[in-house]
Amino acid sequence: MEDGYEASGEFIDVLSGPPWQVLNDPVRAALRGVDPEHGPVLDVGAGTGLGTQLLADACPTATVLAVEPSPVLRAVLLSRVAADADLRERVTVLAGDALDAPLPERLGAVLAANMIGHLPPQDRREFWHRVAARLAPGAPLVVNLQPPAEPAVVGFTTFGAVRIGRHTYEGGGAAEPAGPDTVTWRMRYRVLDGDGVVLREHTVDYLWHVLSEHDLRAELAEAGLRAEVGPMGVVRAVRVG
Ligand SMILES: C[S@@+](CC[C@H](N)C(=O)[O-])C[C@H]1O[C@@H](n2cnc3c(N)ncnc32)[C@H](O)[C@@H]1O
Repeated sequence: MEDGYEASGEFIDVLSGPPWQVLNDPVRAALRGVDPEHGPVLDVGAGTGLGTQLLADACPTATVLAVEPSPVLRAVLLSRVAADADLRERVTVLAGDALDAPLPERLGAVLAANMIGHLPPQDRREFWHRVAARLAPGAPLVVNLQPPAEPAVVGFTTFGAVRIGRHTYEGGGAAEPAGPDTVTWRMRYRVLDGDGVVLREHTVDYLWHVLSEHDLRAELAEAGLRAEVGPMGVVRAVRVG
């Protein structure tokens, strides 16, 4: 299977650190009340494990499943887990995706951060049902809304730049409508030296399925989940009844 993160994988972890600092409090708040007795907590599309680490920290006695399809990102995830004695004990890394990863009958929480746009609408609906069937009563699904909510042009923006040693790792992107509910994000990743000279540059296109708050609420309701939207577009959904 092709790895959509093959070229960008080198950059994702370092550039995701600052955005995760912003997501930290809203995601922790949305994870309130998790009961580890209900079952393992799941991070879907775990990437390099920044969210997995937060999930494990927010649920300090839970066992954790981290599902990640990209071999490059999974290598970073596994390295992060292996480097920490507590994570190493509690986190199992699964090579799979949102629909094919084997899941236990009951889950104590599900985190799906910065990833839902990868799923086409039909897969997304199947994913909500898959999760809703396993979430214990009161156990949260945490997912975030990411702009644009409709197919729209988004001008090029630099998302972040992190200096490591003599080099700066920089990421940015622009989006173009690509269909009734999709945009293409054209991402640009660069390595610059201390004088601002570009040493390397990679361009990667991602098809991204946009989702408005209204449609997300409707889809979750259809799967038997009631959603509450918090800061930074972080959504907490629990089973109705
Ligand atoms: C932008 S990254 C976010 C990673 C991580 N959740 C974070 O917030 O740091 C999107 C992630 O979704 C994963 N992904 C892509 N398609 C997926 C699918 N069908 N099922 C599960 N994860 C998927 C990618 O491999 C990648 O790790």
